[in-house]
Amino acid sequence: MDTLNLAVIGAGYWGPNHIRTFSNLSGCAVSTVIDLDNGRLERIKAMYPGMNCSTDYRQALGDPKVHALVVSTPTSTHYAIAKEAILAGKHILCEKPLCETAAQAADLAALAAEHHVVLMTGHVFLFNAGILKLKEVVDAGTLGRLQYLSAVRTNLGPIRSDVNAAYDLATHDISVFNWILGSAPETVSATGASFIRPGVEDVVFITLKYPGGAIGSINASWLDPKKVRQMTVVGNKGMATWDDMQPATPVAIYDKGVNVTQEYNDYGEFLRLSMWDGDVRLPKVRTDEPLKVQAQEFVKAIQSGIVAKSDGVFSLGVVQTLDAITASMRLGGSPIVIGS
Ligand SMILES: NC(=O)c1ccc[n+]([C@@H]2O[C@H](COP(=O)([O-])OP(=O)(O)OC[C@H]3O[C@@H](n4cnc5c(N)ncnc54)[C@H](O)[C@@H]3O)[C@@H](O)[C@H]2O)c1
Repeated sequence: MDTLNLAVIGAGYWGPNHIRTFSNLSGCAVSTVIDLDNGRLERIKAMYPGMNCSTDYRQALGDPKVHALVVSTPTSTHYAIAKEAILAGKHILCEKPLCETAAQAADLAALAAEHHVVLMTGHVFLFNAGILKLKEVVDAGTLGRLQYLSAVRTNLGPIRSDVNAAYDLATHDISVFNWILGSAPETVSATGASFIRPGVEDVVFITLKYPGGAIGSINASWLDPKKVRQMTVVGNKGMATWDDMQPATPVAIYDKGVNVTQEYNDYGEFLRLSMWDGDVRLPKVRTDEPLKVQAQEFVKAIQSGIVAKSDGVFSLGVVQTLDAITASMRLGGSPIVIGS
């Protein structure tokens, strides 16, 4: 295949970013855009004259010239569209989260493997240069054994009607935590509250317990007027922070911590605490656009048949976590064991 032809399904707030990104990528062309809203399609046609536009995604599924699809419709529609696309033999980059339930995610992951198509979820923060640096620092052992990770993700909107703030916002942090720790959590507990639409939590407070003892904490809200995207990773040898609102120096590495040693003397045993307060480093971080890096990885995955990051199985781990978060919120914060 000389040129990879793509169709983008969903041209609302986010879809046009995929259209722009893939249109500018060498070896790729966006030939088709699908949306239920004709007004949105008119705007796309004005920007990309000659674009094949339709209100029916099945038109793209039946078109042999379309090799791959980007699904950028509301989360509640992902499962049905992705399933039909896999059965039609199309490679898929599906926006986050992959779907609504763990059962749906397991189905999609299995179907993609069975039909030999690439299924990748747009967990775009896995392609964010600051997060890549954080992972590099953790993998190099600079922070030692990880003790906890915490994240805050707030902004005023966009307010969703189909999924809660965990599915829409905390998904990003869950994908990063799971990637850094190499596993989905074992146990989840969460509380949240709905102020705008009954049953759709606008704010969530999540606690995740990972194998090996690390704990994760996420606060996400679309009702908070201050845009915050921050993460802190604390290990027994040091800590690191990421702040997406600091584009020049998003990552800081702190040579700070506390050591506990058990000591014995004539009066018995006691714990000795020693704290150290060393340098703070601001490592150089590249400024590549995460959406472009994600698009490049998707193309590579189609060419090689290997999805290096954010494949169906990884996406299942994220959706299992989201499923458990919602179950815990419905039970007033009771812990939910994932997979139980
Ligand atoms: N990675 C990120 O940072 C990021 C940012 C924003 C949104 N998103 C994700 O992108 C997806 C879309 O979000 P959005 O903010 O663009 O939503 P949106 O509501 O602005 O746009 C969704 C579009 O999909 C269209 N649509 C709905 N059902 C359709 C169907 N069956 N066939 C064709 N078109 C259909 C709607 O008409 C609408 O234009 C969501 O999954 C969201 O989580 C990701």
